Amino acid sequence: MCGIIGINSKKPVSASIINSLKKLEYRGYDSAGIATLHAGSINEVKSEGRVDNLEKNSVVQNMVGTIGIGHVRWATHGLPNSINAHPHSSQNVSVVHNGIIENSTLLKKFLVSKGHKFKSQTDTEVIVHLITENLKTENIVNSITKTLKSLHGSFALGIIFKDQPDLIIGARRGSPLAVGYGPNENYLGSDSYALKSMTNKITYLSDGEFCVIKKDHVEFFNEDGIKINKKVLELSSEEEKYDKGDYKHFMAKEIEEQPSTLKNGIKEYVDTSNNDINIFNFPWKTNEISTITLIGCGTAYHSCLMARYWFEELTNLNVNVDIASEFRYRKNRFKKDTLYVFVSQSGETADTYAALSLCKSKEMKTCSVVNVIESSIARDSEFVLPIHCGTEIGVASTKAFLGQILILYLLALKLGFLRKDLKRELFNKKLKDLKELPDLVQQTLLTDNKIQTISKTFNDAKGSMFLGRGFSYPIALEGALKLKELSYIHAEGYPAGEMKHGPLALIEEGMPVVVLAPRDDYYKKTISNMQEVIARGAKVLLITNKSKDEIISENIWETIEVETTNADLLPFLLTVPLQKLAYYSALKKGYDIDKPRNLAKSVTVE
Ligand code: M6R
Repeated sequence: MCGIIGINSKKPVSASIINSLKKLEYRGYDSAGIATLHAGSINEVKSEGRVDNLEKNSVVQNMVGTIGIGHVRWATHGLPNSINAHPHSSQNVSVVHNGIIENSTLLKKFLVSKGHKFKSQTDTEVIVHLITENLKTENIVNSITKTLKSLHGSFALGIIFKDQPDLIIGARRGSPLAVGYGPNENYLGSDSYALKSMTNKITYLSDGEFCVIKKDHVEFFNEDGIKINKKVLELSSEEEKYDKGDYKHFMAKEIEEQPSTLKNGIKEYVDTSNNDINIFNFPWKTNEISTITLIGCGTAYHSCLMARYWFEELTNLNVNVDIASEFRYRKNRFKKDTLYVFVSQSGETADTYAALSLCKSKEMKTCSVVNVIESSIARDSEFVLPIHCGTEIGVASTKAFLGQILILYLLALKLGFLRKDLKRELFNKKLKDLKELPDLVQQTLLTDNKIQTISKTFNDAKGSMFLGRGFSYPIALEGALKLKELSYIHAEGYPAGEMKHGPLALIEEGMPVVVLAPRDDYYKKTISNMQEVIARGAKVLLITNKSKDEIISENIWETIEVETTNADLLPFLLTVPLQKLAYYSALKKGYDIDKPRNLAKSVTVE
């Protein structure tokens, strides 16, 4: 989380810094700040809340410095207020930081003993004072090398110095950072997305490296302060135009974009003329893989859980699913015949990235399913399967979820077919059904009015539950995550069969419970579990698919019927009403739908 921008130019930089910070707001939005250097002094302005607040400040509007750094914050240490906002500055140095300094308490003690005075509650301020202290005896490069060696934890840093009118330092350990090159100016940014409006020439820093950015050139150093050469990458020069259009929120737009997400994914991967799935340059032979381990966080983890059912159904592979923050610290038995698949929309999630790095250090086979193809996870994995769903701005992931599960489904189908676990005839049939999916999702989007009315009951309740079995269980988890994330209502996703092992005790008169019971192999069992919660007073919203068979159950509060397709594909359809339920519930409460409280789009700290 948190976003960094730095610009070293011959022109005033504050307006460009503010523009870039707006693009970086998806990384954190509880406060923002800017520092520019002019006539030998550092001018710093910070404000609580969104970048808009910072922009309105008249001091920012009149800043004339031609070198500066900016930051959007997602608080780790200290309240989200303007004192704790970045940059943090001493007399000589100003710093923006993304990450966590784990030994900040110890360092602070040492620095206080040396006479340094602290203003904020942040871990970042120790970096400012440590550099200031080291500058007493060292030159700039040595003071940075020495400071970085004292820090434990993760960071991306942008640093300017009072008496250096042509210098920004950038440093990376564990948090992404990129350098951009422009005419007579150069840039530093948390990602290429923030830099793309200024340049398409980028260099990504690797862990342990730092850079010295001057107006006309950039130098790179390794952790020992030794100069290194880095490649300049040329990204596509088209800056993606992405706005809300006529929608009130990005999330609403992104939900409606899902048929095209699926269409694009199918177009990219399915060869309709030869009835095949194009996964070119897959670097391993199928007989080299006997296990697949799927790893992600949040919604991406739910995609992994979803994929488990398909891999088990369509292949004879062993399947493991893991939450990245757990996987990275467990005593894993790494096996050469395992394919490790990392799922991430942003491709920058710290835990997923760390899990990937761990697998790479063990020389495992690594593959990623990502949306942002320039991301750290995409760059560092051996093989990448992009989901092609375009920019996703809403913090609550919607179209990326359908994009991820589509690609994982295609991978399961392809591996099943190549391994001969899946017969040609069935493979063809499943591909044929898949082609219909975007239209079915489009029709499912029409369930709008009913969900708007239903959402009121959820808003009035103390809590809610989402139940499903088999293919529907990960979707129940995803539905509950969306509701809690957006409307701050307590919501639990549960396997329907587990209810009587404890959670049934939570059911009380009038509690809203979503039951996902499509007409698949689990249908009858789920309907029995539904009756058990109805008998205890729950208000059940049943989500099933259209069928000529009547639903044999009484006292269902509301029913939503999605379109019908083969059982593998029903999870795509079941997801849509749950996304809308969360959206309308938050809308009625007047919450900030695209930027829910306490969250950020890209979670770059662990
Ligand atoms: O960028 P990633 O897919 O790696 O992000 C993982 C989670 O942080 C993300 O899915 C999060 O759970 C969403 N806000 C859920 O809507």
